Amino acid sequence: MSGITSSTALWYASRATGVVSLVLLSAVMLIGILVNRQGRLPGLPRFAVLGLHRNLSLLAVVFVVVHVITAIADSFVSISLAAAIIPFVSAYEPLWLGLGAVSLDLMAALIVTSLLRRYIGRRAWRAVHWLAYASWPVAVAHSIGWPGHDVHSRGPRRPGLAAGAGPRLGAARPPRPRLDGLAGFAAAPHAGRSAMSPATHGPAVASPLMPGPGAAGTWPRRQSPAGGGLPRLLPPAGQPGGDLAAHLGRHGPVPYRGEVARLIPEVRAAGLTGRGGAAFPVHRKLEAVAAADRGGAIVVGNAAEGEPASHKDEALLRLAPHLVLDGLQLAAEAVGAARAVLYVRRDVHAGTRLEEKMTQRDGRGLDRVAVEVVPAPARFLAGEESALASLVSGGAAVPRFTPPRVFERGVDGRPTLVQNVETLAHLALIARYGPGWFRAAGTPDEPGTMLCTLHQVDGSATVAEAAFGTPLADLVSLSSATAVLVGGYHGAWIPAAQASRLRLSNAMLRPLGAFTGAGVLAALPADRCGLVETARVARYLALESAGQCGPCLNGLPAVAAALAELAGLAGRRPDSRVVSDLIRWAGLVEGRGACHHPDGTVRFIRSALRVFEAEVREHQRGRCGAGSSLPFLPVPAGPSTDADWS
Ligand SMILES: Cc1cc2nc3c(=O)[nH]c(=O)nc-3n(C[C@H](O)[C@H](O)[C@H](O)COP(=O)(O)O)c2cc1C
Ligand code: SF4
Repeated sequence: MSGITSSTALWYASRATGVVSLVLLSAVMLIGILVNRQGRLPGLPRFAVLGLHRNLSLLAVVFVVVHVITAIADSFVSISLAAAIIPFVSAYEPLWLGLGAVSLDLMAALIVTSLLRRYIGRRAWRAVHWLAYASWPVAVAHSIGWPGHDVHSRGPRRPGLAAGAGPRLGAARPPRPRLDGLAGFAAAPHAGRSAMSPATHGPAVASPLMPGPGAAGTWPRRQSPAGGGLPRLLPPAGQPGGDLAAHLGRHGPVPYRGEVARLIPEVRAAGLTGRGGAAFPVHRKLEAVAAADRGGAIVVGNAAEGEPASHKDEALLRLAPHLVLDGLQLAAEAVGAARAVLYVRRDVHAGTRLEEKMTQRDGRGLDRVAVEVVPAPARFLAGEESALASLVSGGAAVPRFTPPRVFERGVDGRPTLVQNVETLAHLALIARYGPGWFRAAGTPDEPGTMLCTLHQVDGSATVAEAAFGTPLADLVSLSSATAVLVGGYHGAWIPAAQASRLRLSNAMLRPLGAFTGAGVLAALPADRCGLVETARVARYLALESAGQCGPCLNGLPAVAAALAELAGLAGRRPDSRVVSDLIRWAGLVEGRGACHHPDGTVRFIRSALRVFEAEVREHQRGRCGAGSSLPFLPVPAGPSTDADWS
């Protein structure tokens, strides 16, 4: 299956087996009719004709079963086992799938009655047998309707067809994106968190893609104002963001579904994953909370943005707050939550006037669930979901040991859905424009776009929206960089030469120990030392340990101190054993914390030792080749007091 994804293979398998089943069923029907009219087929004895009829019937059943199984297994279309068996209950293409279910049920009735023929008598069996012939026209109708719909939205999945199909499919390299400031938000070089201003240059957007049809669901689809192009989440260049009238003019009111769980199949069909770092499938969390809910679920929009190098949630809340608030309402409806919380980093909350925006929405009657804004401390761990649940419940923002997981027992012990605010904004767009539209950008396995914070070699930082599958070289300038940090401070360094062959895709990055995370990309200028940069960030990460788990509390400072010594920040020549100590201690903290903080920190440090191997050797000799000692990666001054956890 080289080059073709398993999901694509499932799609082809379900279609191919469907076609073969129909051909076989047609043959069975034809033989049945001929035999009944003439008693036999020309040139064949009766026993042979009956044998042919039986064997073709059995073969048809086998193909139908494979057809149904592959259709259910294909994650692109949202078909449950119940929808395959019970006619017209599917949220996805109810008519065409319903016909398929009728045909399947008729076939099942035929098989069961054939097996029980001895007990039910020949007359009853014959009656059912004749009825079963009705499954053929129904199957034909099913075959006309169903593929006709999702063949179009499936378009980009076919090898070699779509710009977004990416290198795994052997597609041609997409045209370079426009770099004309379309999706804009920029941070001043090494600015503090609040020093952001509308972008004037530089944000990269992915290549424009054709708009896809709204594939799944039975709700009327709006036409996306962005068509198939970008930006989707942020307002177009030159247009102010944040205004409710402009938001309603562009996207219309919140498209409620009127019933718990009805949005979930669309989210599943869209293939939306979380944009807070872990890229977890959103529909699975929605399903889990909806199932765990006993009338008191809570949804939380996570805008803690504890990662110092990330500014995308701040940009989103400033430029498109109403998309986030729409997404929060829709998520609340999807899981049946009666309470919604927006958890926003304290300094961002101060600058975004969210309460004012919510009052405006109240005036228009847009929201069904009241939203409470809870300020989050500006700490690296404050956005980890169990720390979030603890703070919103009135405790400190420190991670807790799990299980139970937050979706089971989170805020105030209730089932809690925590989604990154960007995830919620995508949800609000999927509810309006449909899964097919969503999948028109990105790759088949990683559909859609994501907001990225791009740190360029000149020290500028911008927030841009890019489709998955976009070449990294189109996002950050690599020609004068030595390495790129991908995925932020729990991410990994990649040499610039290698990064120039990579794309914004977890499938491509994962084998290198990297992942897209929350969309941070930082191109390290040639005059900075990657080891020194890593040591500064590692010190910050060690200080950010919540101090609850021994290996993290004691291990991370030891690792950070060894790295500082190696990088020449400790004011002495590194000990000859410092690298081996570093590697050993890193191994001791890994996998031994209540949260992923130690693991993420170790991953980041290990990637530095790998990528900056030459620098490590230089530093062991007491030398550093950096031309500038100015810090490149943003590192906050650090917590002023321990009380900063609340
Ligand atoms: C150390 C750590 C820090 C995190 N910080 C954030 C954060 O600042 N914002 C965020 O949305 N998710 C953060 N997460 C991920 C959350 O725990 C959670 O998975 C996420 O908010 C779920 O939303 P999503 O599925 O929409 O991404 C962090 C996770 C870890 C382990
Ligand atoms: S692993 Fe570290 S950061 Fe995570 S809970 Fe334990 S002490 Fe806190």
